[in-house]
Amino acid sequence: MSKQFEKKDWQDSMRVRFDFNNMMTSYVGESGINESEIADMELQIEKAEKAMKEKRANGGMDWRELPYNQTEVVKDINEYVNSVKDEFETFVVLGIGGSALGPIAVQQAINHPYYNELSKEKRGGYPKLYVMDNIDPEKLVSLFDIVDLETTLFNVITKSGSTSETMSQFMIIKEILEEKLGEKAKKHIVCTTDAKNGNLRPIADKEGYKSFIIPAGVGGRFSELTPVGLLPAAMCGIDIEQLLAGAAYMDELCKTDNTFKNPASMYAILNYLGMKKGKNISVVMPYTDSLKYIGDWYAQLWAESLGKKYDNEGKVVNVGQTPVRALGATDQHSQVQLYAEGPKDKVIVFVGVNNYKTSLTIPNIYSDIPSLGFLGGATHNKLIQTEQMATEYALLKAGQSNMTITLPEVNEFTLGQLLYLFEVATGFAGELLNINAFDQPGVEEGKNATYAMFGRPGYEEKKEELDKRPEKNDKYII
Ligand code: PA5
Repeated sequence: MSKQFEKKDWQDSMRVRFDFNNMMTSYVGESGINESEIADMELQIEKAEKAMKEKRANGGMDWRELPYNQTEVVKDINEYVNSVKDEFETFVVLGIGGSALGPIAVQQAINHPYYNELSKEKRGGYPKLYVMDNIDPEKLVSLFDIVDLETTLFNVITKSGSTSETMSQFMIIKEILEEKLGEKAKKHIVCTTDAKNGNLRPIADKEGYKSFIIPAGVGGRFSELTPVGLLPAAMCGIDIEQLLAGAAYMDELCKTDNTFKNPASMYAILNYLGMKKGKNISVVMPYTDSLKYIGDWYAQLWAESLGKKYDNEGKVVNVGQTPVRALGATDQHSQVQLYAEGPKDKVIVFVGVNNYKTSLTIPNIYSDIPSLGFLGGATHNKLIQTEQMATEYALLKAGQSNMTITLPEVNEFTLGQLLYLFEVATGFAGELLNINAFDQPGVEEGKNATYAMFGRPGYEEKKEELDKRPEKNDKYII
């Protein structure tokens, strides 16, 4: 019998919608985009579409196949989760960047907002989740105050297997676990890494840790739909098959050659044209706390993929949009003043929800105070949705470009669509910008400088280069 999320009617009722009216000149005025500008890009769009298709066919974008080729992986993950979940009270991810932001975003989106504070029974028998994505010593040491190592499982996630932040965390945890648990320590570590490359794979194999594979052709920030994200999600009771089905559904929507009907292409084209007009900031503003951390995940995806110095021909272009995270309605009282009256250098992306998981009615009290009484009897659902529409209107009136993505509700299927939509849009924007969206040379420079300063063998030349950097002048230090 097919599951609900496999039924076409249900899937269509859960379709994520993309509304770009307020990007167009006919709505937002002169800072907007004319249909003729999109028509003028016909050849460029065709070239980008062709490149996307070719890369996909030639294995240059393996993340596009993730919704389809992981039946065995999903089975392995679910079996593993079922075999260990009763033993563990806490599941801790050690990872950074693309190996941490997806797991945080998906967990926050789908599960109870206070998931970790619930009893295990109320968590459906699944462990608590913590994600350690920094090397601030205070944070990791503090973790030991709240977890019992006897009932904690650590998931080391690193595609490269060489990331200092993650590997140093792993080294610390491994030693502590072995001191405390001896031989049993190995059952408390599960690794997610490349099948062959990097330091973690041989360590996992030699030391006998359970491990999962990050497919070779999938880079960090595009890896949420691999075991990077699927294992932590399943470990918290999230339906990973449904998440992948949502991504597959969005893939179908993004296959059309009709540009005006293709959500990923339109998202990329409108932001690309926005950038040409100096809109170098991309604000993502969900109107639900559950999607707050999607903003963090998107920020890495959009920034690291599109922020590039050189184009594909080696010309200096210094392109990219700076992602900004905001939350509705909270940031109406913090950021919206700037979005409305500040420079027209932003594209604001509202992410709304038709149906919240719960409904909350404001009591009919203070009816004698008109400025409060009007709230009585209405729901918070209606209030937050009205505030979203009102902010959209205010920005429209102010001539500030904005677009709205709407999820019928936040569930695994719609979340899978949203993740996949942003990923394809990022790839497409990379093609339009004629840059490589899948590397991160600017990050590598900082990593290499750290290795050199820390005395890693092989980085002696870099150390010499660093030693020649200008001394800081006390005059400029107060
Ligand atoms: O997108 C990327 O490739 C990076 O941001 C990585 O996710 C990040 O640097 C972590 O790398 P790794 O998973 O190799 O430890």
